[in-house]
Amino acid sequence: MQYKRILLKLSGEALMGDRQYGIDPKRLAEYAKEIKEVVEKGIEVAIVIGGGNIFRGVAGASNGMDRVQGDHMGMLATVINGLALQSALEDEDVHTRLQTALEIKEVAEPYIKRKAIRHLEKGRVVIFGAGTGNPYFTTDTAAVLRAIEINADCILKGTRVDGVYDSDPEKNKDAIKFETITFKDVISKGLKVMDMTAFTLSQENELPIIIFDMNKEGNLVKLVSGEEIGTIINN
Ligand code: GTP
Repeated sequence: MQYKRILLKLSGEALMGDRQYGIDPKRLAEYAKEIKEVVEKGIEVAIVIGGGNIFRGVAGASNGMDRVQGDHMGMLATVINGLALQSALEDEDVHTRLQTALEIKEVAEPYIKRKAIRHLEKGRVVIFGAGTGNPYFTTDTAAVLRAIEINADCILKGTRVDGVYDSDPEKNKDAIKFETITFKDVISKGLKVMDMTAFTLSQENELPIIIFDMNKEGNLVKLVSGEEIGTIINN
């Protein structure tokens, strides 16, 4: 598969590295170096990052917090991660723009689709913060939505598991990994890839999803270079 424009979905938790909370500067710098290599290949890169290393709205709600309030806190957490990633990328001399779904003009540009596309065309990495700007939606849904809006070729979802398995590989050592699988099969087999809102949005818009292990150094570059790692989900 040849990529011209990708949307990379990073989990907030991955930014913790070995920590229990927050951002590990070492992990952040590793991510920035890998992303730089991808940009240097002439691939346009947009990024959506989660906020779970700082705050998760769902977790807040299960502890009695108002869900909408919690989701707003989660959205702000993604902006914090976006700023950290922007800074790490700029340390690597990568040009970036951060756009947010909630207006925080003093901190970042508001999300404007056409402007985002222009930035990408000019070789800038565009980081989308604040999810979709709405409560009850995950950052996976934000990633799919933005990928569709900017016409990305696919979503690369970096996780700590190296693909989609027929059962949880962290619990079952005999779990079998799929190299490719259809959207339909993921649903019929009850496999967990993304929440259903994100997943069906991707399916309906024929946007392939690739699940891969982002924590293995070099994986992102290998993937965009055409190596078959992870699992491709397609129609
Ligand atoms: P071009 O149109 O290609 O020149 O893009 P550009 O992003 O360089 O132009 P612009 O003049 O819009 O932005 C210059 C700088 O200001 C960039 O670093 C933008 O990220 C930043 N910027 C633009 N709009 C906003 C905003 O609403 N808020 C914040 N905080 N920064 C902004």
